[in-house]
Amino acid sequence: MKNKEISIIGGGVIGLGIGWQLTKSCVDVTIYDSAEAGRAASWAAAGMLAPLAEAHTEEPELLKLGCDSLALYPKWVNELESDAEMSVGFRVEGTHIIGLESDDTHQLQHLYQAQQQLGLQVHWLSGGEVREIESALSPRVSAAIQCESDYQVDNRLMVNALKTAYLKNGGVLNENNPIEKIHVKDCQVGGIETREGFHRSDIVILSAGCWSSQIDGIPDSIRPPVRPVKGQMMALQMEEGISISSVIRSVRARYPTNVYLVPRTDGRLIIGATSEEMGFDTRLTVGGMFELLRGAWEAVPGVYELPILETWAGLRPGSRDNAPILGKTPIENLIYATGHYRNGILLTPITAYEISKLVLSDVTSDVIAPFQIDRFLE
Ligand code: GLY
Repeated sequence: MKNKEISIIGGGVIGLGIGWQLTKSCVDVTIYDSAEAGRAASWAAAGMLAPLAEAHTEEPELLKLGCDSLALYPKWVNELESDAEMSVGFRVEGTHIIGLESDDTHQLQHLYQAQQQLGLQVHWLSGGEVREIESALSPRVSAAIQCESDYQVDNRLMVNALKTAYLKNGGVLNENNPIEKIHVKDCQVGGIETREGFHRSDIVILSAGCWSSQIDGIPDSIRPPVRPVKGQMMALQMEEGISISSVIRSVRARYPTNVYLVPRTDGRLIIGATSEEMGFDTRLTVGGMFELLRGAWEAVPGVYELPILETWAGLRPGSRDNAPILGKTPIENLIYATGHYRNGILLTPITAYEISKLVLSDVTSDVIAPFQIDRFLE
């Protein structure tokens, strides 16, 4: 691999994670980002590490990938924190999935059975029992599932740590420099083109999130089927009297948005998220903010008093079957690592370890084989 040039298109957690791992093996890597690296979906995310909450039981391969990536998290965090010499806010207080009405409780029971079948560490709690743990919850909360192994990481700290570790290892970060074209000749990648001109690359890795299908030069037949799925979010400032230590997810059968509340160590309380098919529109709407506030207030009435610190909208890179697109493509030396949809932060460790292994060994592992682009090709 020495003297080979690797170009990574997209400097979110996926691109940075792969780049960091490759630079640890002394590979020459340049990451290109059309804006500031890590400031798109990676920055907008909430950082929940919850394989089952973000996938369905009908998606067993995706669930397994999520569970396997979650199992890698402690090792990943140790390695990253030690390389970057900073914390990434990994927290293991777990998650409570709550319901308020009988329709919600039915949905919770269905989820609980699926979690038990998967052997996950879950416990059924009454409303009173969950309020003993999280006293800020509403008296209307009637039942909850306690998920001991659904953790969280501070995704923004993880972006900063990945950038630091990658740069420390000699990685090159080329920000505000959109890729104009990937050069493909005779079914083989030759390099990439930016406004500064052509850059030869032995391997190009496409990790441009919801923009991955828009890069010129990729034959139409193998464009990754990735689209933006908008999520509106906000952050509140927790104050004395309103303290939440675990992630709270509210299941509301009657409403369009299931809200989650994610407490950060610095006192921020992240509230998310809508899920909207609005193309690349990132405007905040009254309806979106209303759904978040209603959901958060129903779960934790005390949020009524809290100051709003920030509002934003992110674009999840959704693939056609909700699973990421990983690995080799019919174009030699063009590798995909995109389409992570609602699970980008959760799937960062497994993607970074597996794609860097693929680059170094040229062998597709059993882990990523089911997620290759060929599943979409005729
Ligand atoms: N993973 C959280 C979300 O996509 O809203």
